[in-house]
Amino acid sequence: MSSIIDTVIAHHREYFPRSTDCALFASPGRINIIGEHIDYNGGNVLPAAIDKHIYICISRNNDGIIRFVSANHKETGEVAINNLHSPQTKAHAAHAWWVYPYGACVLSNIEFDCGLDFSFYSTLPVGAGMSSSASITVGTLYALYSLNNITIKSKDIALQAQKVEWDFAGVKCGIMDQMAIINGKKDNAIMLNTQTMEFSYIPVDTSTVRFILVNSGVKHSLRESAYNDRRHECERALLTLKKAGFAIQNLCDCSVDDLIQIQNILPQTEYKRTYHVIYENHRVHQFAREIQQYNLKKAGELLYKSHQSLSVYYEVSIPLIDEMVEWASDIDGVYGSRLMGGGFGGCTISMVALYAVEHFTRTIAQKFKKRENRIPQIYECSIEDGTRRIE
Ligand code: GLA
Repeated sequence: MSSIIDTVIAHHREYFPRSTDCALFASPGRINIIGEHIDYNGGNVLPAAIDKHIYICISRNNDGIIRFVSANHKETGEVAINNLHSPQTKAHAAHAWWVYPYGACVLSNIEFDCGLDFSFYSTLPVGAGMSSSASITVGTLYALYSLNNITIKSKDIALQAQKVEWDFAGVKCGIMDQMAIINGKKDNAIMLNTQTMEFSYIPVDTSTVRFILVNSGVKHSLRESAYNDRRHECERALLTLKKAGFAIQNLCDCSVDDLIQIQNILPQTEYKRTYHVIYENHRVHQFAREIQQYNLKKAGELLYKSHQSLSVYYEVSIPLIDEMVEWASDIDGVYGSRLMGGGFGGCTISMVALYAVEHFTRTIAQKFKKRENRIPQIYECSIEDGTRRIE
C-alpha cells in the first residue's frame, strides 16, 4: 500500500508543487455478481467493491480556484469558486472527464472558503464497466464531507453521486454502483434492495472461488442512449401495468407467476424487458441462497441464465460477448459467466474455481486473440472495502 501512496502523492506534488498537506482517499470500482438492469426497477442486486481504485489526493490553495488533474487524462479542469454554480461552467464541464468531481463539488452544497487542488490516480480501468464514474464521484463527495467534518449517511452520498450522473452526465443510471462503492466490505458481496435502499452483507469465500473479468474492449457509441432507452421501456411497461390494475410501484414487485397475465397486456418489446427484469430479480434471491450454502455449481448456472436473458430478452449483449460467455462455459472449473454492467460491450464476469484460474485466463486469451487478433485485458478481482480515507 505504501508504494501506491508514495506514487499518488508524488503525482500530486508534480502538478501542485506549492501544496503542503494533502489528504488521500481511495475509492474502489465494483463488480456486479448478479442482478443486471434491475436496480432502476426496484429489484435486488448483488454487487461488491473490488481491489482496483481511484485515488484522490486533495490540498487547499489560496487562489479561489478548484482544479482537477488526472494521471490518466491529459486535459485538466479549472473552475473559480465564484463560478462553480454557473450554467456556463456546467455546460463547459459536460463533456470533460472532470464533469464527475465537478458535479460532486456542486451538488455537495459545500460553501468553499478556499480553493482546492484535486489530483486523481487510477488503477481502475476506465470504460470497462467497473464503474469508474461512480467511483470518482462517490470518492469526491466522501472526501469533501470528510475534509469539512460533515457527517452524512452513506445512502445520501450514493444518492447525490447518482444525481451527478443524471444531471451532469445525462445517464439515468440506477443506484447499484454508488451503493456498492460506498458500502463495500472485504470478502463480502452486498445484497441491496434498490427499492428500500436496505442492504446486508453476504460473505464470499474467495479461497475457493474467484471472479474474473474479461474486457471485450468494445465501447459502443450508443451505450448511454441505449441504456436510457431500456429504462424508458421499463417505465412504459410499469405505467401500462398500473393502468391495467396492477398495484405495483416497480416492475420487480411482480412475480414470475404474474408473467402469464402480463404477456396479454404488454406489447412484445416491453414484455421481453419485463420478463428479464422479473426473472433476474428472482435469480438474485436464488443465487444468494445457493452461494450461502456453498452450492457453487447451482449458483453458477444462474449466471449463465442471467446472461441468456440479458442477450435474448433485454437485448443488451453483442456477438463477441455472447461468444466469450460460451468459451467460458466450455472451460473446466468455470461455474458461470455472463455479461456484466450496462452492456453493448464492456466486460464479462466469470465465477471460476481457484484451481482453474490460470487455465481459464490462458484459454480465454487464446480464443480471444484468434477471433479479435488482440490480447484482451483480464482482471482477477478480490473483494475489498468501500471508499475510505487512507492518509
Ligand atoms: C450501469 C448502471 C447501473 C446498472 C447497470 C446495469 O452500470 O450504472 O446502475 O443499471 O448498468 O445493471
